[in-house]
Amino acid sequence: MRVAVTMSMMLAWSITTPLPVQQPPHADTAPVSDRIDTLVAPSVLQNLSTIPHVVEVNLTAAPARLALYPGKVTDAFAYNGQVPGPTLLVHEGDSVIVHFHNELPEATTIHWHGMHLAASMDGSPLYLVPAGGRTDYVFKVEPDRAGTYWYHPHPDRRTGFQVAKGLYGALVVLAVHDPLPKSIPDKLLILADNRLLADGSPDLPDRDSPAGQIDQENGREGPVIFVNGQLHPSLTIRAGEVQRWRIVNASAARVYRLAVPGATMIQVGSDGGLFEHPREVKEVLIANSERVEVLIRGTGAPGSKTALVDLPYDRYVPQTRPDDWDQTRDLLELRYATEPPVRPVTIPAVLRPIAALDTTQAVAHQVVAFSQGLINGKRMDMDRVDLRARVGTTEIWEIDNLVGMDHPFHLHGFRFQVLDRDGVLESEPRWKDTVNVPKHSTVRIIVRFDNFAGRWMFHCHILDHEDDGMIGILQTY
Ligand code: C2O
Ligand code: CU
Repeated sequence: MRVAVTMSMMLAWSITTPLPVQQPPHADTAPVSDRIDTLVAPSVLQNLSTIPHVVEVNLTAAPARLALYPGKVTDAFAYNGQVPGPTLLVHEGDSVIVHFHNELPEATTIHWHGMHLAASMDGSPLYLVPAGGRTDYVFKVEPDRAGTYWYHPHPDRRTGFQVAKGLYGALVVLAVHDPLPKSIPDKLLILADNRLLADGSPDLPDRDSPAGQIDQENGREGPVIFVNGQLHPSLTIRAGEVQRWRIVNASAARVYRLAVPGATMIQVGSDGGLFEHPREVKEVLIANSERVEVLIRGTGAPGSKTALVDLPYDRYVPQTRPDDWDQTRDLLELRYATEPPVRPVTIPAVLRPIAALDTTQAVAHQVVAFSQGLINGKRMDMDRVDLRARVGTTEIWEIDNLVGMDHPFHLHGFRFQVLDRDGVLESEPRWKDTVNVPKHSTVRIIVRFDNFAGRWMFHCHILDHEDDGMIGILQTY
């Protein structure tokens, strides 16, 4: 029965009430041993359905007076009154119905980033919901799609603005049979930076101003980095304990190079869920709109502390690279409980089988060339189709970045596997929907266009580039 599932979900995600939008920065004097996490997960959307395997929720985007920055109440946009928006939590196989109401003063959409669904449900700019309008997003979550996804607006030219105002949230698909031990605590970390004016409102300069032009070039970044809307929150861990962190990069342009000194990090998944094999890593790069799942195993001494840090990553052209690009930033404090170490749980050597898509089956090779602001030399045109693919076929796409800054490539509707990066083969097949294409490099992907005919966006996920027309349209038929 659905209610029981919902209750256990609520317990697992330790959510009871909608969260306060901001926590004050934590006091450094808090005792470590009481194991209080200041990091709060966004609340989970309440399932209104009592039918098994149906998740039915209400979601409203509306202006809100709230504090994006602690203590500074401002005019923001919010889903159900909170930033980040509430988490849409579903299981593989569920049917999802989202009753969406747009109470914003402008058109919007909700794009279910990474989901495989009908083109009309994808929230692309082709399916705008006008100011004051309502729509139902209805889709089915296929088997084998467990993973960490997210949702955000996708109106023509206004995505960056609406996200900066506070519209973004997580979508978590739980597995029917998750291979990781149930005893592992599951944490959601949504990373989003912003640049705020003194009154706490987002700094959104005119596009033609000098600051606006730098945003246009780099993609808009800001010095304030939120984790679940909070500044520098903390988590506690016991020495030896293993935690699962699902990390979403909801930033407009910032790429994070994440590390946790003094803990072991094992990457177990990315955009499309778990890998076949866990992989111990020193750091993990997460471009905007990508997700990673990592296991953090506490290897520090009881009572000590460390941090989730963002290491420098040079994605920029030298002319507009921010002066502080080479700073390391602490995003979240990780405090070791004072209790003695526990023996770490055993992580399965195989998480789930992932069959490699067969390159010999590819019926077409297509090229997507990124230059500054353009795809294959063109700006987006809503009435133009740039690429075509037949439903049910497999294709290989070559994404060429012709310029001196990174552009993350995202394809709507269909997950893909990376074949190689600059000719270097991927070590194993993994499901992705976004891949960073570093400056002057080439990434080849393989994709099967299953099930759905329609028009789909593929684009650079730097929101300023996307809004400026760095989008192509794929027609599946
Ligand atoms: Cu997350 Cu077309 O975007
Ligand atoms: Cu770009």
